[in-house]
Amino acid sequence: MHLKKLSLINFKNYAETDLTFSKHINCFSGNNGEGKTNVLDAIHYLSFCKSFFNAVDSQNIQHEAPFFVIQGLYEISDTAEEIYCGQKRNQKKQFKRNKKEYTRLADHIGMIPLVMISPADSELITEGSESRRKFIDSVIAQYNKEYLENLIRYNKVLSHRNALLKQFSDSGKFDVESLEIWNIQLIEYGIKVFEIRQSFIQSFVPIFQNYYKLISDDKEQVDIRYVSHLNNSSFTEVLEKAINKDRILEYTTVGIHKDDLDFTINSYPIKKYASQGQQKSFLIALKLAQFDFIKNIKKITPILLMDDIYDKLDDSRVKQLMELVSNKNFGQLFITDTHPNRLADLFNLTSVDFKLFTIENGVAQEKEVISTKDKITIND
Ligand SMILES: Nc1ncnc2c1ncn2[C@@H]1O[C@H](COP(=O)(O)OP(=O)(O)O)[C@@H](O)[C@H]1O
Ligand SMILES: [Mg+2]
Repeated sequence: MHLKKLSLINFKNYAETDLTFSKHINCFSGNNGEGKTNVLDAIHYLSFCKSFFNAVDSQNIQHEAPFFVIQGLYEISDTAEEIYCGQKRNQKKQFKRNKKEYTRLADHIGMIPLVMISPADSELITEGSESRRKFIDSVIAQYNKEYLENLIRYNKVLSHRNALLKQFSDSGKFDVESLEIWNIQLIEYGIKVFEIRQSFIQSFVPIFQNYYKLISDDKEQVDIRYVSHLNNSSFTEVLEKAINKDRILEYTTVGIHKDDLDFTINSYPIKKYASQGQQKSFLIALKLAQFDFIKNIKKITPILLMDDIYDKLDDSRVKQLMELVSNKNFGQLFITDTHPNRLADLFNLTSVDFKLFTIENGVAQEKEVISTKDKITIND
């Protein structure tokens, strides 16, 4: 599978752009703020129906413009697929596959598997549990449709239950029976989500540990532990025990919406004890394992986006990483860096299908790269 063409209209700092990509390696270079990450984000939109960074779609419309359009032409198992995402100000987002609009965006998730490696991944270590749940969800949702359905249902029931708890407090009346109606559904969907998360982590961790070894020269032992209220007790018990707390706080304090992942390095929490470089290696291993995992299950090679590859990594680590991902096991790559030569230098250009684009103020230009034995020249 690969993205052949991308067209943008009024998307962030791109007024109008048409790009034709290589099947294998595509590099974008440019100074800070020119629009490298924005291209990757447009590609992210076409897979996940949303931005990697900004959940408010209208804020991704170019300032002052009335709408944005992102269009991608893909080749998936020898079939052409045209994906369209359009957002007008104050209107519902339109998402289409081959000109036919989806009624539910969730139906599109997983069709074009994609993994993004970004400096913003550090949030997975530094921020609260929500970012780690999002990570689990975004991996599983790409291969398990039912998971996403159950999660959406769970969250709906959860908000009803929370509204009821709030109502109890406002009215001063507590009615166990009406709460029980929501409890039954919360338990039903919650257990399904829990079981899938649990088995996902079980098979994911060994793959992750293997990648960490590959990129860190096998120096430290890393681990991920799934932390959930349901680990040691049934959801029914957990809800019963928490009822007084829920009443006082006026929301549901226990359940899979509080799940977390414990990241450790040599058994210590990574947030406190790992160096910046170790944290970065941890995050890259996490993302490459995500890539492998999705690829194995779906039998489609995901698109890999790598933003600012030199962020917190030295030259030799980047070189090692690029050798790994330019291997045939990986498919189409989109990579950004500030220096065009540094990017071209990373690959053996005679053996890979490679394109380089320079980006200046929302204008992308494809460059001709000439590689001879001792020199790489980038022509205008
Ligand atoms: N809605 C928008 N309209 C116009 N420009 C935008 C919008 N959102 C972001 N930008 C611009 O995009 C640029 C950042 O692009 P980005 O792709 O993050 O740069 P980089 O090349 O550093 O990755 C900034 O100049 C920012 O002002
Ligand atoms: Mg950037």
